[in-house]
Amino acid sequence: MKKILLTGALGQIGSELTGKMREIYGTDNVIATDIRQTDSEVVTAGPFEILDVMDIEAMGNIAKKYNVDTIIHLAALLSATAEAKPLLAWNLNMGGLVNALEVSRELQCQFFTPSSIGAFGPTTPKDCTPQDTIQRPTTMYGVNKVAGELLCDYYYQKFGVDTRGLRFPGLISYVAPPGGGTTDYAVEIYYEAIKNERYTSYIDRGTYMDMMYMPDALNAIIDLMEANPSNLKHRNSFNVTAMSFEPEQIAAEIRKHIPAFEMEYQVDPVRQTIANSWPNSIDPTAASEEWGFKADYDLAKMTTDMLEKLKMKLG
Ligand code: SER
Repeated sequence: MKKILLTGALGQIGSELTGKMREIYGTDNVIATDIRQTDSEVVTAGPFEILDVMDIEAMGNIAKKYNVDTIIHLAALLSATAEAKPLLAWNLNMGGLVNALEVSRELQCQFFTPSSIGAFGPTTPKDCTPQDTIQRPTTMYGVNKVAGELLCDYYYQKFGVDTRGLRFPGLISYVAPPGGGTTDYAVEIYYEAIKNERYTSYIDRGTYMDMMYMPDALNAIIDLMEANPSNLKHRNSFNVTAMSFEPEQIAAEIRKHIPAFEMEYQVDPVRQTIANSWPNSIDPTAASEEWGFKADYDLAKMTTDMLEKLKMKLG
C-alpha cells in the first residue's frame, strides 16, 4: 500500500481510516472520495474527490490521476437501510463493488472491502460461528455481502487481483455515526447516556451480537492488507470480533460510570428480525492464525474510552 484510494471516506469507517492511513502512508498518498462533501478533515486535510461509486469511468479516472495501487472500497448501505430500499441496496452495494473490482483489475490494485456478520443467516451455527460455514442470509444486505465475498474471491482466482476482506461485527466509535445499521444501538446508547442518562433500545434484551471498537477495526484492516499473502489461506472474508454482548450488558457497563442510567425497550420488528438472523458470537481463529488478528478493547475498556471521548465531543 503506497497510494491508496478510499470510497465512502465520509462514512463511519472512512472518517477514521482516512486520517490513520494519512498518518502512516503520508497525507498525499491517501485519496479520500465520497458522494458528498463536508468540512471534515477527510475533505480538508488531504486529497479529496467527489465520487459516485456507480460511475466506473469517474472512479477509473481518479484512480489513474493519482496512480493508486490500493483501493479500499467502503461505500455501501448498511443492513436496515438495505431492508427498507432493497433494490437500491442491490444496485449500490453490488454495482459499486464490481466497479471498484474492475478498476482494481485494470490498474492491478490491491483491494479491500468489508463484509459483515450480516453475511450469516438463521441456519448458520449461532455460537462460535466458524470461518467456513453455512451462509444463507435472509436480508438484502446479507445477500449483498455473501455475493460480494464470492465476487472478491472470483477476482482473485480469475484475474489475480489481491482482494482481502473482513467480516466486521457492529463497529462502535465516537467520531462518525454509523447510520442505517442494526448494531447502531450500541453507538446511540453512549450518546444518550451522556445527554439524557437514558436510552430506549430498539433491540430487545437477550439479543447477543458481536461488536468491535473502531481502533481495533482500523488496525485489523491495515494488518490484513500488510499481511504476507503466502500466509493467507482465506481472503474474503475473515471473521473478526472483539466482544459479544446483549443490551442489558452494555447498559450495566455504562452504569458503572453513570449510575443513574436507565434503559427502556421499544423493539423495532425490522431490526430485531435482522439481529435474530445473525450469529450470537463468531470465531476469529482463522484471522488470528493467518495474520495475527487480536483485538485490544473489551466491553469495559471500550466503554471507559467511549464515555470519556464522547463527553469531550459533546461538551
Ligand atoms: N453494523 C452493520 C449493520 O448493522 C453490520 O455489518 O448493518
